[in-house]
Amino acid sequence: MGYKRKIIKIMKIKLLDFFSITIPFTVGIVINILGVGFNVLVPIAMRKFIDFDSKVISNNKSLVLLFVVLLLQIILTSIGTFIISIEGDKQISKIRLKIKRHLLELPTSYFDSRNSGELSSRIINDVAILRVFLTINIPQMINGIITILISAVILFLLDWKLAIILFCIFPLNALITFPIGKINERIANKTQKTISRLVGITSENFKNIRTIKLNNAEKNVFSKYSDEINDLYVLSFKANKIFALTQPLQRLFAISLIIVVILYGGFRVSRGTLTVGTLISFIIFLFQLIGPINNVADFYNSYKRAIGSTKEISAIMETETENNTLPILKIKEISKPYKLELKNVTFSYDEITVLKNVSMDFNTGEKIAIVGSTGAGKSTVLNLITRLYPVDSGSLYLNEKKASDFKLDNWRSLFSVVSQENTLFSGNIRDNLMFGLDKEISNQKLEDALKFAYLDKEIDSFPEGINTIVGEQGIKLSGGQRQRLQIARAYLKGADFLLLDEATSSLDSYSEKIISENVNKLMKGKTVIAIAHRISTIVNADKIYFIENKKIKDVGTHNELYKRVPAYKRFVEEQIIDTSLS
Ligand SMILES: Nc1ncnc2c1ncn2[C@@H]1O[C@H](COP(=O)(O)OP(=O)(O)OP(=O)(O)O)[C@@H](O)[C@H]1O
Ligand SMILES: [Mg+2]
Repeated sequence: MGYKRKIIKIMKIKLLDFFSITIPFTVGIVINILGVGFNVLVPIAMRKFIDFDSKVISNNKSLVLLFVVLLLQIILTSIGTFIISIEGDKQISKIRLKIKRHLLELPTSYFDSRNSGELSSRIINDVAILRVFLTINIPQMINGIITILISAVILFLLDWKLAIILFCIFPLNALITFPIGKINERIANKTQKTISRLVGITSENFKNIRTIKLNNAEKNVFSKYSDEINDLYVLSFKANKIFALTQPLQRLFAISLIIVVILYGGFRVSRGTLTVGTLISFIIFLFQLIGPINNVADFYNSYKRAIGSTKEISAIMETETENNTLPILKIKEISKPYKLELKNVTFSYDEITVLKNVSMDFNTGEKIAIVGSTGAGKSTVLNLITRLYPVDSGSLYLNEKKASDFKLDNWRSLFSVVSQENTLFSGNIRDNLMFGLDKEISNQKLEDALKFAYLDKEIDSFPEGINTIVGEQGIKLSGGQRQRLQIARAYLKGADFLLLDEATSSLDSYSEKIISENVNKLMKGKTVIAIAHRISTIVNADKIYFIENKKIKDVGTHNELYKRVPAYKRFVEEQIIDTSLS
């Protein structure tokens, strides 16, 4: 009972969650069933045709009947299969979009512990298996069952003794397919995992091809890859072994069945208790039944495979998205000046605490610097205020209103971010500048953005200008060009908080100075939060947060901190020495 309920539950949640039995799908199935009905009539028509034996040539009516039945069967099955495939593909597209939307809304932390290539390949493969199950295996199973049922009735009517023999031997087929199915399922699951891993490794390798070359790591990378390929080969070998065993067994089984029918049937014909036509239609039935019976028996395997795949997809779909609170406020309802505040915030990545009871505030018009040694948690502060990660305890506020009262995309419209990572995409410079913007941007505005980032002259010197293709992750640009393109993009978004995380670390002092002047000039009335090691950026800030040992050690202007915090003084002096040396 419990087991049965579990199966129904799995079937319901894991499969029907993704698939709905629509009108076209039902129509397709019904047409297919009609086709199957005519298919079953073929041996009957054949029997009629043959049992007129001596008058074969003149028996035009039976010939026409046979032809019509065959034709109808072919037409109906083709139309039915076509409708089912089209409908199945439509639903698969919907499933793909549903998964993609869900993935885009999953928390950032979900992706931290997963290999992107592996995840993508897994999803594509799993959906492909689901597609085969929905558009091929299910219709085949339904057709198979209908064929078997109708055939059983007809065969019993034709000759019940022969029918009994047939249907006693048929189920023995399951003795072959069932146990093998279980082994196959295990192999299929492992194969899929290995393929996903392989795709993951491959895509990561190609992305890091320069690092591989510079570290002479080709041999290493190759041997890791060949280990995976070997695993895959071993799995295929096992699958081939099983296939090599089952195929002849199934064929032997079918031939034995036919021999039994011919021997017994022949004996009956010789005694005059069975007509030749009936025997032949029996044999045709047999041939027709072997396919459907194998399909029904194999359905168990494909069902198990589909369940395996849907489990993976379900695990994704059941992971809660980050948009799980009901928004009650909109940013435009909050009047400026803004005060963005972290109050008593504690935060950990995977159990390791990075920030402890941290309180900070960022006000409209201020230029704030966040300073601290590497790994101190500076970028984490930006991750928290942009809500890429939720705080563990404490809260984030905008003008005393809780951040969680705003919808995420609405909240993130507050920020223009230049992050420490490379955030460029393949495409051209224009695509990258306008990334995520849904408003029309004039050429003048684009030009202004490039000027702001001190990038206009270089882009003008490119033969293709703003339409220059930048390569995957902007690989065709220099490190400094990439950074400035991201600064220009942030300028175009024009949000009220400009977050700069080491945004000018790859630039020479002169370029940095110009951008810094542009920021001072053009960001008036907005809030700039800058993380930088360069002392020139820090000294001009209205307010500096100095992070040490997971806490805000102190906050104040450069002069104040320099006097009062020995660790800050040490930090600054080290920077100055560094700068003067370089
Ligand atoms: N996604 C993540 N998952 C787990 N741990 C992380 C993650 N991101 C950062 N950390 C850890 O959190 C700590 C703080 O990282 P963070 O990036 O905030 O440092 P930072 O002050 O910006 O350093 P840097 O100056 O080097 O950029 C580090 O010890 C880092 O290992
Ligand atoms: Mg950082």
